[in-house]
Amino acid sequence: MNRRSLLATTTAALFAPAALRAQERVLSLYSSRHYDTDRELYDGFTRQSGVRIRLIEANADQLLERIRSEGANSPADVLITVDAGRLARAQEAGVLQRVSSPTLDARIPAHLRDPEGHWFGFSVRARVVMYDKALGLPAGLTRYEDLAKPEYRGMVTTRSSGNIYSIGWTASMLAANGAEATEAWARGIAANLSRPPAGGDTDQIRAVAAGQGRLAISNTYYLGNLARSQRAEDRAVAERMAVLFPNQADRGTHVNISGAGVVRTAPNREAAVAFLDYLSSQPAQAVFADGNSEYPVVADAQPSAFLRGLGNFRQDQLNAARIGALSPEALRIMQRAGWR
Ligand SMILES: [Fe+2]
Repeated sequence: MNRRSLLATTTAALFAPAALRAQERVLSLYSSRHYDTDRELYDGFTRQSGVRIRLIEANADQLLERIRSEGANSPADVLITVDAGRLARAQEAGVLQRVSSPTLDARIPAHLRDPEGHWFGFSVRARVVMYDKALGLPAGLTRYEDLAKPEYRGMVTTRSSGNIYSIGWTASMLAANGAEATEAWARGIAANLSRPPAGGDTDQIRAVAAGQGRLAISNTYYLGNLARSQRAEDRAVAERMAVLFPNQADRGTHVNISGAGVVRTAPNREAAVAFLDYLSSQPAQAVFADGNSEYPVVADAQPSAFLRGLGNFRQDQLNAARIGALSPEALRIMQRAGWR
């Protein structure tokens, strides 16, 4: 989801001494989000705090590499990514620092932030099953575990095993069911695929709309973004789809986060923490999440009309940090199971 290339940011100010940058009251935000609504949000922080936001956009791996190569002189104050796996990678790479904020601790649910405060989730996406309303949901399907059963042969369309969403999802299965059961499950998924894994979540939704499978595995926001697309054919696809939130009678539906942390070498640490606090405020939450059809993480912010239309659901409370820790094993299990 990171289509923009690295922006040129070789301005003199960027390389000015830290003290001078602090005087200028500029916060350097390295973001792999690319939504126009985010800009409105950043302007809101500037109005409130007087701190201007300098936005550096690229994909998460590029941003991480850039922070590492800039080293102690990095102007980066805050890193924002669109999944917990990449936040965990940034933490492992040592580029994030611990933050202790009473506001964040009070407002962000515990399972959506690093227990040590290296990063915080600011919006949630659920990994759900989407199906064609006209065909309905095949009988007996209520859990992720069911997707591996022989009666759903040829019905499942999903991304490749190497994709970070597949890895996070399988890591959640691993946490719930253990290695042996998860490998058997992954074999069942591989056996039930309607086609070899290809493309992103939107491609899985389109495949089901085109009859190439019955059950698309996708994050919720891809459907939300199709529903508000400028293109009539996208809206028509979204209109045909219904959503199953799996595992509602037990641990809940697997969720992932878009989140942020303060960079270890942040020249403006105080402003960086103030910015994270601001992102957890009720008005900022609604805008931040809605920019990508995601769920806010705080109880007092409303999801978009589209998400409200999908209904309430129970979230798996597994900590995003645990998902990050189990991810390497999850990938090995999927590969052993023949999930391409
Ligand atoms: Fe995505």
